[in-house]
Amino acid sequence: MIILKTKSEIEKIKIACDVVKEVLEKLEDYIKPGIKTKDIDNFAETIINKRSAIPSFKNYRGYPATTCVSVNEVIVHGIPSDYVIKEGDIVSVDVGAYKDGFHGDAARTYMVGEVSKKAKKLVEVTKESFFEGIKKAKVGNRLQDISHAIQQYVETNGFNVIRDFFGHGIGRSLHEDPTIPNYGKPNRGARLRAGMVLAIEPMVVEGSYEIITLEDGWTAVTKDGSLAAHYENTVALTDNGAEILTLYERVL
Ligand code: MF3
Ligand code: CO
Repeated sequence: MIILKTKSEIEKIKIACDVVKEVLEKLEDYIKPGIKTKDIDNFAETIINKRSAIPSFKNYRGYPATTCVSVNEVIVHGIPSDYVIKEGDIVSVDVGAYKDGFHGDAARTYMVGEVSKKAKKLVEVTKESFFEGIKKAKVGNRLQDISHAIQQYVETNGFNVIRDFFGHGIGRSLHEDPTIPNYGKPNRGARLRAGMVLAIEPMVVEGSYEIITLEDGWTAVTKDGSLAAHYENTVALTDNGAEILTLYERVL
């Protein structure tokens, strides 16, 4: 069942999203060669605490940290560790914040210094695929119109979308209906309605979309070792169009 949100509920989600936004924006300067992925986690948690919010991911189904930090061939759910970030890495950071009864959720892939041409293209195509999806995020369209647009853009650019993880509705729970695949066919899935709040999150790989989950039960890596990128925003659908609640870097 998809829970539609009222205007005042969306205002509360915006407050949670502002916290997420602050974390991701500040990470643009914070992420540098020499820092550990667990430093990123501490940095995020400090900001979330300062804003009197709660990390959405910590203890969610036993997840042990505030952020997911997924480097290079790690697709999602990388657990912050002593890994030291180096020049040329691509570092995906996913973060959620809970405040006043509602969650916000977003992710970015940061490029550390000079990265390979292919890595840069992967990161850019992943981000751009989200905006291709957003063009279809209109009341009256259907859910897989978004999915299809993302898949189409990614595959046209020679990359692949992950099949094992999805976007999701978000609100009082981190994960609500509907499930939002990053692949699909036009004119299928739930009808989009005003009041839907969706976390749309393309996960894109250079090579095969096959994944392996490591022994820790979380870290998802590409089976072929190729690079992966992630880009996510929380989005509210209104009669005036889609409002991207966790965007800080780009105005459509
Ligand atoms: N953005 C991811 C998701 O919506 C992050 C979840 S991490 C978890 O699935 F630890 F909370 F599972
Ligand atoms: Co999410």
